[in-house]
Formats: sequence, C-alpha cells, structure tokens
Amino acid sequence: MRIDVITLFPEWVTGLRELGVTGRAVRDERVDLRVWNPRDFSTDAHQRVDDRPYGGGPGMVMQAQPLADTLAAVAPGAAAVTLLSPQGQRFDQQLATEMAARDRLVLICGRYEGIDQRFVDKHVDESVSIGDFVLSGGELAAAVVIDAVLRQLPGVLGHADSAAQDSFSDGVLDCPHYTRPEQWQGQPVPPVLLSGDHAAVARWRRQQALLASWRHRPDLLSCVQQQGGLSQQDYTLLQPLLQQPKQN
Ligand code: ADE
Repeated sequence: MRIDVITLFPEWVTGLRELGVTGRAVRDERVDLRVWNPRDFSTDAHQRVDDRPYGGGPGMVMQAQPLADTLAAVAPGAAAVTLLSPQGQRFDQQLATEMAARDRLVLICGRYEGIDQRFVDKHVDESVSIGDFVLSGGELAAAVVIDAVLRQLPGVLGHADSAAQDSFSDGVLDCPHYTRPEQWQGQPVPPVLLSGDHAAVARWRRQQALLASWRHRPDLLSCVQQQGGLSQQDYTLLQPLLQQPKQN
C-alpha cells in the first residue's frame, strides 16, 4: 500500500514511520508512507499557505493553490482523495477495513478554520472524521486512520489473528486480557483461563466481550443483533448477564 499525507506539520506524521506497528509496516515495506508539505508548493514570496476568510470572521483559511499543486505532485491517479475533517463521515472499524483493501490512500490534513471550499469541491472525494470533537488539525486524525488501516494489512501484526480479535472486528468490544502473575494485589486471574479447556476459554471470552458491549456500548450490541450477528449460543451466554445490575 502507498499512503501520501498532505500536511503543514509533517512532524506530526513522520514519527509514524519509526514507531510501533506503523513503523514496522514501513520497515517491512508493507507501506510506502510519504509526507508532503503544501508550504513547499506555495507560489507566495513568503511561502504563505493561508489567508483571511472572505466575509470576515475569526481565523485563517488554507488556500486552494498550494494544496492543488501539492496534490498534483502526489498524482493520486485513480486513488480517492480523503480529507480529515470534523465534518466528515465517522471513521470506524468497517471504514478502516474498507480503506485497508485499497492500494493507495491520499490523506489531506486541514488546519486553521478550514480549507477553501473550491479546493474541496474540485479534489476531495470523501471527508472522514474520527469523532464529534474538534482537533487543531487533521494530523492526529490521519495518524489514527493510518494506524487502524495498517494493523489490518496481512503480516503487519506479529500474531496472525491479532487484528481479527480486535474490538469491533466482529462488531462487539474485545474481552478482558490477563497475564502473569496469577495473583496480583489479591486479585486472581479468572480460573477458566488457567483450565486448559480451550472451548471453555473461547466461551468465556465471547461472554465477556458481549458483557463489555452490553455495559459500555449497548448501541453496538443492538446493531450486531439487528444484523443477525448474535448466535443462539450468544443469547444463552448473555442471558445470565442480563439479570445482573449494570456496573463497570
Ligand atoms: N480535524 C479536526 N478535527 C477533526 C476530527 N474530529 N476528525 C478528523 N479531522 C479533524
């Protein structure tokens, strides 16, 4: 996969090339992550990339020309151009999976009050938001998208099944995890995890995942239910939980 990120603050994104899962994906050449700064394409003598909004109001607006010239250098071809923006479609695991199947991503990070709408109308194919809050720019949102997408590429995660076991991959939250020691500050590991009974462990994990979803994200659970994603065994596992009072 190739990912081009267009940003006025490349340092927010270049760290991804060195660190963690995204860093490994870069080193293993599973992704070619390139970062472009529109300031390098400004035709202004002072390399300006923003100006005051027509009609007045606070803040500055990113100008169309430096962005358009950067995009021309990126040469997206048939690739979709994605703008990170609080006005966009909500990013979720399903969209991450869909984006992971593409061979190119072109991500544009907005800054200041926004981007000249004429650039957006002409060049942007989709807008993506990582949540109903406003960041100071799209860079952190782009980093979120890149991490969520790359961890889904084959071979990027150490263990082949890790991405499949992520929260949301089957529509519900992940189950809790435990590691050594068996007792920590008086708290034991749930005995079933020490039993060696793989079927019982799988059942317990599914039950805990359903419980976590029911407690913290009932919206997810009803969505999976509406899509027919709960088995008869899931209902059997959920039944005793639903008798319990909701707690953390
Ligand atoms: N830029 C600013 N806020 C954002 C958000 N919530 N999602 C994506 N890009 C953004």
